[in-house]
Amino acid sequence: MCGIVAYVGSKPCCPLLIEGLKRLEYRGYDSAGVAILEPSGRIDVVRAVGRVSVLENRLTQRKPLMGSLGIAHTRWATHGGVTEPNAHPHRDDRHGIALIHNGIIENYSTLKTWLQERGHVFKSETDTEVLTMLIGELYDGDLEAAVQAALREVTGAYAIAVICEKEPGVLVAARKGSPLMVGIGADEHIVASDPSAVVAHTTQAMTLEDYQVCRLTPDSFRTSTIDNVPVTPKVHELEMELQEIERGGYPHFMLKEIFEQPSAIQQTMRGRIDKREGRIVLGGVGQYARELVKARRFILTAQGTALHAAKIGEYLFEELAKIPAECEYASEFRYRNPIIEEGAVVIAVSQSGETADTLAALREAKDRGALALGVVNAVGSTIARETDAGVYLRVGPEIGVASTKAFVGQVAVMTMLAMFIGRRRFMSVEQAAGLIDALEKIPDAIGRVLEESDHIRKVATRYIERENWLFLGRGYNYPTALEGALKLKEISYIHAEGMPAAEMKHGPIALINEGMPCVFIANRGSQYDKVLSNIQEVRARGGHVIAVATEGDDEIRKHAEDVFYIPDVPECLSPMVAVVPLQLLAYHAAVLRGHDVDKPRNLAKSVTVE
Ligand code: M6R
Repeated sequence: MCGIVAYVGSKPCCPLLIEGLKRLEYRGYDSAGVAILEPSGRIDVVRAVGRVSVLENRLTQRKPLMGSLGIAHTRWATHGGVTEPNAHPHRDDRHGIALIHNGIIENYSTLKTWLQERGHVFKSETDTEVLTMLIGELYDGDLEAAVQAALREVTGAYAIAVICEKEPGVLVAARKGSPLMVGIGADEHIVASDPSAVVAHTTQAMTLEDYQVCRLTPDSFRTSTIDNVPVTPKVHELEMELQEIERGGYPHFMLKEIFEQPSAIQQTMRGRIDKREGRIVLGGVGQYARELVKARRFILTAQGTALHAAKIGEYLFEELAKIPAECEYASEFRYRNPIIEEGAVVIAVSQSGETADTLAALREAKDRGALALGVVNAVGSTIARETDAGVYLRVGPEIGVASTKAFVGQVAVMTMLAMFIGRRRFMSVEQAAGLIDALEKIPDAIGRVLEESDHIRKVATRYIERENWLFLGRGYNYPTALEGALKLKEISYIHAEGMPAAEMKHGPIALINEGMPCVFIANRGSQYDKVLSNIQEVRARGGHVIAVATEGDDEIRKHAEDVFYIPDVPECLSPMVAVVPLQLLAYHAAVLRGHDVDKPRNLAKSVTVE
């Protein structure tokens, strides 16, 4: 939820930290701060409420910070409001210790009382300041040892970076439950929440595991557990390219990512389709092919957009693999004492691979004996590492807080996974070949929808004053309706509800009044006529219908005020195309309303707390 970047090396680090914060800002953006050990021997802390640009301004108005050991943070508030005292870094003045933190210290209240009894005075409402003071309290001339000792006392989740005035040239980092990595450069180390803050400086990196602590100097590192057992870290090459995390001429990352979708899912499919044999080749799950073919039940679990993709997975597994499947919010699954019988396979779907609830649901299912698969975008993320096997999305880094290309990638992967299993069960070569053919045409189909962006913007303009929208679909496109509604609400702040079209008359129809925009996914498919009937129900009550329909369907114009046409594709593949006009609709609505599309209020890209 928060972004962490820290540096130990030989050059003044303030510019690098600010650049890193800007790249990490999508992780949280209500306040930001830096702490740098200055040549004077003092750690100077500068913090500001608001975006990183506010902090940057503040820094230009003061004496430049020149030190080459520093930590920086962009916050998404959990404990305590959005105020400067609550912004990170926090300081323990007694020992000159400064700390940044991502996560939640669950037992902070008990620790705080204990520290107050020892004379500590707190300036913020945060759990992070408690951890800072605890490290200070346990400090006895060795920062690494104090961090280890403090972390043995805390429960909860953390990724932290800590520096101390008494140990110039030493940076200590640690993690449990929140992502943290170390970039290894020439005479420098950069600690960061994700590779986007590192990749401009080095491509060598190591990922810290839970309960690991790393002591870094400009030219050395040492990794151990919080119990001080030495650990040999795995150094790897970062796969990310710098241009992938830049806007490349687009006004927003979200728009760039929407337009990247054709090439992104080409990457998802690259090398995974054997057209001649009508087979799908998924190296990441190959060794579990027998277990998957014999699976008794798939449990798909996720949150947000990934959950909507997983709901489509539910339909795909039942239709293409002919195995029962059910999809559930990870946050519900993890706490409801789920029954995991033999042959159950849990599939965690996640762009970031770090979503706390999805990770916890995965662990719960694994503990109960399920085979665990991941459908994940971020390579090397926690979910990717903790699953038995998985399939990466390969859609490239997604920076816009509103997930777009990851959704299409998730659906593409689950389609391939269902076919991978289906072909080994009942699916004929002919059926598979036909579907593969159609799958390969999806990037072009999405490209055709993208050409309609201007038309979609004009439609958005017409309805921009409306505060309540409905999104309705059936079958495979019921989850698409959910996704359309989520996109609109999260970046436009317009109230939108998505639901199965038939559900409307069980209550929500009462909402419909003159001119209320109702978006129907009404492409040609098995339930087309039923969707048309639902459209009539809306029109009879004065609602305005915006239909996503199949090219060539002129009839629909009689039933809808506005139509977004999509190419004709098989029903089971249609969500990947039908979602695109809804993404563009939400994007244009948000821009027209003057919102910061890439950083919508109250949100953060990756939700690493419960
Ligand atoms: O990284 P994940 O895919 O696990 O994230 C899940 C949700 O937090 C995420 O999809 C969220 O709903 C997005 N803001 C949707 O645009």
